Amino acid sequence: MAAVLPPDGSARSVRIVRDRASLAAIRAALPGPVGLVPTMGALHGGHVALIERARAECASVVVSIFVNPMQFGPGEDYERYPRDLEADLRTCAAHGVDLVFTPDVPTIYPPGHSTTVDVGPLGTVLEGAARPGHFRGVATVVTILLDLVRPDLAYFGQKDGQQVVVVGRVVRDLALAVGLVVVPTVREPDGLALSSRNAYLSAAERAAAPVLYRALRAAVDDYARGERDAERLRARMREVLAAEPLARPDYVSVADRETLEELAAVDRGALLSLAVRFPSARLIDCWPLD
Ligand code: PAJ
Repeated sequence: MAAVLPPDGSARSVRIVRDRASLAAIRAALPGPVGLVPTMGALHGGHVALIERARAECASVVVSIFVNPMQFGPGEDYERYPRDLEADLRTCAAHGVDLVFTPDVPTIYPPGHSTTVDVGPLGTVLEGAARPGHFRGVATVVTILLDLVRPDLAYFGQKDGQQVVVVGRVVRDLALAVGLVVVPTVREPDGLALSSRNAYLSAAERAAAPVLYRALRAAVDDYARGERDAERLRARMREVLAAEPLARPDYVSVADRETLEELAAVDRGALLSLAVRFPSARLIDCWPLD
């Protein structure tokens, strides 16, 4: 265990723990309610929004930082995923985090680990179709983290809309004793959702990337004007994306917010979502319709 002081010299420090036994001991002494913010590090303003929300609602805030190999497919960016633990610890200290859990891979997946959490069809559509096994990895690591940290509340970003649905299903189906809090997506002034993967974009791609937001907004505006035909909303998003030559759409979706099944008509809300390939990165975004 170690303590890190933030650069502003304030007295606030954050405790860091890497192993299960120390985590359990420290966790037992934390005042409740305890909030957990699971992350893969490279913390940015989106993560900070989750931390601040947890800070406002909980007596103790735990942040986990673990780049989870199980949720990366072969050929994905596990090795080059951005890692900067020192900067992350400073961010955590500056935002009043009480405890940072930074396990290594065998701490989460001890040798011989073979049990995984599979959410069924929810995990095989949309991102799950593009990234086979991704949500098994997410569901498995989140279940393990919830069991190790035992928070009262766990915080997730709306940015990863399908992840929110998947984690909600895991908690319900496995009767996990935790409350989930969903925090709105934090965006750049031009609408681009903050993401660790934005760092991969070239200057030209970065300039083009707000097209995801513009496509969502166009569909949201049509919906606000009364459009309820899901295929027309999808067509609207495709039309906006088609105007951006650097963007190759992977999917656009108007799906049921609980089952993620594609809708014909939007009469009980929906989740708009899309994934777009740029030469250097694949970006996702989404927007819940009430
Ligand atoms: P990571 O991508 O690090 O994101 C951690 C949390 O921050 C997720 O809940 C994500 O939705 C949220 N987040 C990311 N960008 C955001 C933004 N712009 N606005 C609001 N929230 C944002 O998501 C993961 O890690 C992993 O899959 C994890 C849940 C930790 C399991 O490994």
